[in-house]
Amino acid sequence: MKMWSGRFKGALDRKADAFNSSLSFDKRLYKHDVMGSIAHCTMLGECGIIPKEEAELICKTLSEIFYDVKNGKLKVVGAEDIHMFIEEELTTRIGDVGKKLHTARSRNDQVALDIRLYLREELDTIAELLHTLIKTLITLSNENLDTVIAAYTHLQKAQPTTLAHYFMAYAEMFLRDLERLSECRLRINVMPLGSCACTSTTYPIDRKNVANRLDFADVTHNSLDAVSDRDFAVEFLCACSIIMMHLSRFNEEIIYWASDEFGYIELDDRYSTGSSIMPQKKNPDMSELIRGKTGRCYGDLMALLTTMKALPLAYNKDMQEDKEALFDAVDTVKMCLDIFTDMLPTLKYNKESLRSGADKGFTSATECADYLVKKGMPFRDAHGVIGRLVLYCSEQNKRLDELSIGEYKSFSELFDNDVLNCVKAENAVQNRKAVGSPSDKAVKAEIKRAEKLLRSYFPET
Ligand code: ARG
Repeated sequence: MKMWSGRFKGALDRKADAFNSSLSFDKRLYKHDVMGSIAHCTMLGECGIIPKEEAELICKTLSEIFYDVKNGKLKVVGAEDIHMFIEEELTTRIGDVGKKLHTARSRNDQVALDIRLYLREELDTIAELLHTLIKTLITLSNENLDTVIAAYTHLQKAQPTTLAHYFMAYAEMFLRDLERLSECRLRINVMPLGSCACTSTTYPIDRKNVANRLDFADVTHNSLDAVSDRDFAVEFLCACSIIMMHLSRFNEEIIYWASDEFGYIELDDRYSTGSSIMPQKKNPDMSELIRGKTGRCYGDLMALLTTMKALPLAYNKDMQEDKEALFDAVDTVKMCLDIFTDMLPTLKYNKESLRSGADKGFTSATECADYLVKKGMPFRDAHGVIGRLVLYCSEQNKRLDELSIGEYKSFSELFDNDVLNCVKAENAVQNRKAVGSPSDKAVKAEIKRAEKLLRSYFPET
């Protein structure tokens, strides 16, 4: 019999019952549901809303239920949702006293609380994974401060840079992800219990007491909003989607850097797979899966946004649909960050082909134009001269650093012997000293800044 069956004459249709139930997936929230119930019940006892001894018995039994579920002694089946399951089990164990737990509470504020507790915990785990990934990127950067590579725009060779500068570009993205998560955490970390079904309650509850017990920074300030707000969940999914977008871009580059055409990296055997028919294949499946799973995470975000878009105040059952999207995104992001951070240091960089990649494609052309500017030519004119010089090189099948000084001079009298130094890729890199540029000094400064930022998020390490 349903706990709410009082006003009904007949039973729920069997298929409708199964359709209505969320237990198969929201059982994942059992720990958070018990935590929330213990805090609520302790407050009920302290405020004299139920007798203290009864509150103590309820809390003790709740924690026994928690351990029984955790240890697999108690199977989570047969109820409408996890909230009902735990309350029914409580009442089975201690009889009428158990029926007092739901005083001054509704499943609407209860589920809002559970999701916040769950997301707060998972968010911290994801932040930890980002932390490890950024530290890995910093290590790789320190090892590659002078590994010259080509930077691309439009996937065409652009200018020389270093592998360290490239890795730190991704570190910047993941640092922004950390910042986004920490801002999202502020909105998650607000306690909705006491809003009850939608207009709070007449019991003399102490909402701050519950918030303190559960380590929330504040309580929600409008009961209608509190039971129907999932902004924090949308925001969380958005932060997850952006993390996945960053991972996906990174992995896209790994995929084509590992191709025969680029030959910049070789995948480690531990993180690549073969073909069932083509014996020669070594495929970047991990990177492809991360790129592919980005789509499902975006799907989770779109699903929740769409579910919420026309919901009237306050709680609506549509909102039960929030959970699977959140669980899926949490699992996906954690899995991808974890495997990617393991895989990243195993990639073998072919420094010769990276270097020759940087030497080809006239990546020092901008440098050459700047050279003429420094000798007094207006930039637009210098751009024209070097454009003609590049055309000449490509017709002669030569690189800029292979031209003789005579050939340079035939394009402009301003060229001197020192131009041959200027077009060397490593010099082009080291001469870029402004904040954010690829010279090792500038990159080292950004590594320091990144480390400092990490310490501000994770002070204990
Ligand atoms: N299983 C429900 C959910 O996940 C819990 C809240 C149900 N509230 C209600 N009044 N039916 O949203």
